[in-house]
Amino acid sequence: MENFIYSIPTTIYFGKGQIEHVSQAVRPYGKKALIVYGGGSVKKNGIFDRVTEILEHEGIAWEELGGVEPNPRIETVRKGAELCKAGNIEVVLPIGGGSTIDCAKIIAAGALYDGDAWDLVLDGKKIQAALPIVAVLTLAATGSEMDTAAVISDMASNNKLGTKSEHIRPKAAIMDPSYTETVNAWHTAAGTADIMSHILESYFSNAEGYMQDRMAEGLLKTCIQFGIRAVEHPDDYEARANLMWAGSWAINDFLKLGKLVPWSVHPMEHELSAYYDITHGAGLAILTPHWMRHVLNTRTVEKFRTYGVNVWDVPADLPSMEAAELAIKRTADYFKALGLPSRLSEVGIDEKYLEIMAEKSASRMKGTYVELTKDEILQIFKEAM
Ligand code: NZQ
Ligand code: ZN
Repeated sequence: MENFIYSIPTTIYFGKGQIEHVSQAVRPYGKKALIVYGGGSVKKNGIFDRVTEILEHEGIAWEELGGVEPNPRIETVRKGAELCKAGNIEVVLPIGGGSTIDCAKIIAAGALYDGDAWDLVLDGKKIQAALPIVAVLTLAATGSEMDTAAVISDMASNNKLGTKSEHIRPKAAIMDPSYTETVNAWHTAAGTADIMSHILESYFSNAEGYMQDRMAEGLLKTCIQFGIRAVEHPDDYEARANLMWAGSWAINDFLKLGKLVPWSVHPMEHELSAYYDITHGAGLAILTPHWMRHVLNTRTVEKFRTYGVNVWDVPADLPSMEAAELAIKRTADYFKALGLPSRLSEVGIDEKYLEIMAEKSASRMKGTYVELTKDEILQIFKEAM
């Protein structure tokens, strides 16, 4: 296990009705908030109204910025940062899924930055400060409510890039699983695949971490059990609660501390979203089994066998390669059972940008579990067509 520093300081208010704590979460950081939200789901389901009622009652002023896109755009970030600067905003309060929270994170950093917010996406080290962020989560997927990352797109240049800084980790998050009962089957399934992918990206690492791996397997089993349950029974509170909490722990750094490794499948998927604006979790569900098949070899086979036995109940007495292949098949079958696509052509991706997407993702493969060249990534994309 590598050395690490453990500090995951986000205060979590988890469970039914925890929105009542929103003023308690915001007040330590100031008396004027910018509420950030997406295409309107939070207005339809009443969460926005309840938040603003509580803020008004507690004497906390607010402004709002709606319209954050799934795969949030840099243009919306710029708008938000300007609002913060002009309105003397002290706290940023996103209500929504990962797109809204990611957008709010770079708004919070952009508010305290003199240059263009895109600089902060290109280089996380330029994030030297950010307004405090209090997130209200409405979709279990990205873990943005408890992590240091934000992913922002510039569609004009076909760039979708992740940036990271401890300054943008939310100070607090309100996580009421009942809010996610209105998330449709598609986004519930895609969210589950995203959570599983975050766990797998740390699990398949070249650094040892026995304890982290057993925790990861427990989280994966949680997703497998409750993802399908939430898709089939949207108002199953226990399913929603388990998915929501697993989503945070998949990516809040806990699983990867001590086994730092660059991710493999996410850089490839981000290129798909940058060129075709597809749902992130759906892209991951398509690519993951193909990536697994590609990196399965005599060096990695034992890890895949362990994954199969501990996560997918693959019989322990099977020969290693057979066990590994069965594990990959069960992974692919599960994504299909969730109702997710298994081919790039199903989400409207054609051959046109495969080369450039492979080239761009290959530039981010240094130090990954199995380093992939541009040609290998191109082969994975082609196999996934
Ligand atoms: O925009 P609204 O109207 O709110 O509707 C959203 C959106 O259409 C809807 N939704 C959210 N909560 C709902 C709801 N609909 C009904 N009821 C609710 N309670 O769901 C749709 C998708 O929302 P979005 O926020 O885009 O989904 P998600 O949370 O999956 O976020 C995806 C984005 O996060 C990035 C992805 O790349 C993508 O841009 N990621 C962020 C990460 C991070 N910050 O660490 C890591 C991830 O790997 C990922 O890359
Ligand atoms: Zn993801």
